[in-house]
Amino acid sequence: KRVGVIFGGRSVEHEVSVITGIQIMENIDKEKYDIVPIYINKEGRWLTGDSLFKFENFKENNLKDLKEIVFTPFHDDHNFYSHPNEKGGLFSNKKIVENIDVIFPALHGTNGEDGTIQGLFELMNIPYVGGGVLTSSVGMDKILMKDVFKANELPVVDYMWFYRSEWEEHKEEVLKIIEDKLKYPLFVKPANLGSSVGISKAVDNESLDRAIEIAIRYDRKIIIEKAVENPREINCAVIGYDNNLMASLCEEPLGFDELLSYEDKYVKSNMKGAKGERRRIPADIGEAKTKEIEEIAMKAFHSIDGRGNARIDFLLDEENNVYINEINTMPGSIAYYLWEGKGISFKELVNRMIDIGLK
Ligand code: DAL
Ligand code: MG
Repeated sequence: KRVGVIFGGRSVEHEVSVITGIQIMENIDKEKYDIVPIYINKEGRWLTGDSLFKFENFKENNLKDLKEIVFTPFHDDHNFYSHPNEKGGLFSNKKIVENIDVIFPALHGTNGEDGTIQGLFELMNIPYVGGGVLTSSVGMDKILMKDVFKANELPVVDYMWFYRSEWEEHKEEVLKIIEDKLKYPLFVKPANLGSSVGISKAVDNESLDRAIEIAIRYDRKIIIEKAVENPREINCAVIGYDNNLMASLCEEPLGFDELLSYEDKYVKSNMKGAKGERRRIPADIGEAKTKEIEEIAMKAFHSIDGRGNARIDFLLDEENNVYINEINTMPGSIAYYLWEGKGISFKELVNRMIDIGLK
């Protein structure tokens, strides 16, 4: 069977996705699958070539052999891509990529983790790994995500949201409504980005105004959340589909500020997915809290029709109350480090995810 691993993408999380994609390719069972690497560059061009297998080639700008993939919806059965040159000669010098049995989208953030590319696979009738269109889009939109969690009586912090246009037209009213409804400190976030991009903390009217001005550069929809003070961050992954779910170990990321910046999360950490002393696995929160978080993680996954493997991020407040911060339907490095302690190696995790994708 042939598995197409898609990574990169037009997203602020492009670089993280390259790491995830290469790690996945390294861990795919080569006896069972042939791998077709598919790199979406920052301009959105789809490329393939052997140099994509090695991370060094990205660092050294040594992606020499890449060929653009011709993408066409006119395919026979599972010919995801075809080569029109052979059929009609419309495109020359393009790479033919055919007979993909399953796609593994290793994409994070917009244009990848948000249902857009999943919609493409649905239209083309190609099995793929991870959440479907709805799961991915709800999981990417911090507002819809929290609305669904709340409707399912899962714990989320108080929040409200508005459109950029409302801010631009009625700034004073919006500020007033926020201050009437929520108490500082607050977090201001664009609804649809990952990796902490565009997020800032507000402690008063002035910093709130500034934080919103930053956030609206990134999205049409802004969410304001009550900040959990002195939080502990706990993450837990879930694998499966429908009611067949299993929770991973919980981790506590260590040594970060209360707001993990993009830099903290990825640039400063090593390329192996920030493993090591930067996180405590399992998190030192006791058996009861661990159980509670695992249960909520599975319910959260279930509530958005999760499929594959997602990482749910929690915050614990000073009284040890649990809040779901967010779900990541395609977590960085597929959160393999949360599974190892459960006896599921990176290779096994990749294998299971592909199997679920093929179901
Ligand atoms: N959005 C990044 C990749 C994560 O949460 O893991
Ligand atoms: Mg995220």
